[in-house]
Amino acid sequence: MEIFLDLLMRWLHIFTAIAMVGGAVGGAYLGQPIVAPLARNAVFSGIVGIAISGIYNMMKLMKGAPQGWHMWFGIKFLLALHVFGMIFLLTKTDSTPEKRKRWQMSALIGTAAVVVAGAYLRHLRGA
Ligand code: HEM
Repeated sequence: MEIFLDLLMRWLHIFTAIAMVGGAVGGAYLGQPIVAPLARNAVFSGIVGIAISGIYNMMKLMKGAPQGWHMWFGIKFLLALHVFGMIFLLTKTDSTPEKRKRWQMSALIGTAAVVVAGAYLRHLRGA
């Protein structure tokens, strides 16, 4: 049963991040630079899904975590908040195309860094 919950949470964490960031950032390359304001609920649900699965992971892993893990978790968490902020801004209706470009690029760079931090956290645990 526990393996089922672990896999579900891992799936929720990674799939939701792919779908949300991919939709918000990848759209620009498909000629759809605007995240519809209607998508605000979807973005909000995505943030909640990533946060719940992330907190589940954290609660499971932090007890036996090695030195450095907590610090890198903090860095990853702050970077994730930055990405959430950028994607949420992209659902605004009254912004200029220049601002959208900046927010998209910033979300992309932030996501690249979050994924590196996630991989490093895993490496620190020797997993
Ligand atoms: C844009 C948002 C986020 C992205 C793209 C992201 C991505 C990732 C990725 C790719 C991994 C590695 C998964 C694996 O190899 O098993 C990971 C692990 C993890 N994430 Fe996130 N994450 C995000 C937000 C968050 C948030 C908000 C939290 C906490 C509330 C969180 C907590 C964790 C934890 C605890 C791990 C496991 C670290 C370990 O293996 O030691 N993540 N994340």
